[in-house]
Amino acid sequence: MVKKSIIPYGNQWIDEEDIKEIVKVFKSDWLTQGPLVDKFEKAVAKYCKAKYAVVVSSGTAALHMAYSVAGIKEGDEVITTPLTFAATSNMLVFCGAKPIFIDIQQDTLNINPEEIIKKITKKTKAIVSVDFAGHPCDYDKIIKIAKDNNLLVIEDACHALGAEYKGKKIGSFSDMTILSFHPVKNITTGEGGAILTNNKDFYEKLKSFRHHGIIKKPKKGKWYYEIENPGYNYRLTDFQCALGISQLKKIGKFLKRRKEITVKYNKAFKGIEKIILPLEKDYVKSAWHIYPIQVKSANRKKIFEYLQKNNIGVQVHYMPLHLHPFYKKKFGYKKGDFPIAEKYYDGAITLPLFPKMSEQNINKVINTLKHAV
Ligand SMILES: Cc1ncc(COP(=O)(O)O)c(C=O)c1O
Repeated sequence: MVKKSIIPYGNQWIDEEDIKEIVKVFKSDWLTQGPLVDKFEKAVAKYCKAKYAVVVSSGTAALHMAYSVAGIKEGDEVITTPLTFAATSNMLVFCGAKPIFIDIQQDTLNINPEEIIKKITKKTKAIVSVDFAGHPCDYDKIIKIAKDNNLLVIEDACHALGAEYKGKKIGSFSDMTILSFHPVKNITTGEGGAILTNNKDFYEKLKSFRHHGIIKKPKKGKWYYEIENPGYNYRLTDFQCALGISQLKKIGKFLKRRKEITVKYNKAFKGIEKIILPLEKDYVKSAWHIYPIQVKSANRKKIFEYLQKNNIGVQVHYMPLHLHPFYKKKFGYKKGDFPIAEKYYDGAITLPLFPKMSEQNINKVINTLKHAV
């Protein structure tokens, strides 16, 4: 019997052009960092209207690097959202900091700026915002709070490449902005990520952190380099950069298709009382990375399993981080701490959404969900 294929919740779109560009690198002398790293960085920075981009081996590496060059260390506190992928907070923990979670806004599902101010202490170093599902946070408020309190804004925009806040591209205004190029993200390099910044000092530090902390000093000899601070090997290969450059050329098409699919979902599910739909505030352009709906919590498991049984590859983004055993044990968080994030999670189901999705599959998702609720 042939098993019916599952419609995944997210997926890459690699075409012949992409493949041609990757193969060119395999026929050249460069495999790891070569000339395409610089080219990809310039293209990403230009698209996001940032002064600098540093491309790295993953979004997780990008977070680790940004936190490190921001000087986040043992004893610091960093304010962030519990509704995010673990890496946002895990990397803070690896830097020795305590993640101070605050609850989300019920409508955008993003960090609630009104709550940030209440949690700032002498130990607070930064605010890490997450543009959940590709919807930018409320940055006028967040940046003002950060400025007034001498804090950095590090924006986890792993969902949000291509999104806009009040006409400004994501990546153009935070102290550092993090991207991921994982296959489900808005463009892919296989694994990969980037940090965007307008700050030259951060840029220089990020470049050396990516490559063991090496700082070349050719005046002392062409071979000569020094380590002032140790770094990692977080490099991205040239063939990944070839893919990234080629993918970035299609970001407009990808975003347009994501939007088209959400419009179809919105229309199909409008008025179904049992489903809460994700929204887009009028002051942003969402990148629509995922389409998380909410159903009644008592029915979530049943609906989720029905969809899976019918080959709809649904997911849940995410169980709030404060509910994970590590965060409970290490920092004393507990159920009930962030009721809005918890209520969202109890009913959350992410429906498939990716640019290459066929009309037939979109209709299948719509009909199967309507049948399930
Ligand atoms: C919000 C968020 N932050 C960070 C990451 C980590 O990115 P990567 O998988 O490229 O390491 C992800 C990836 O899923 C993410 O969704």
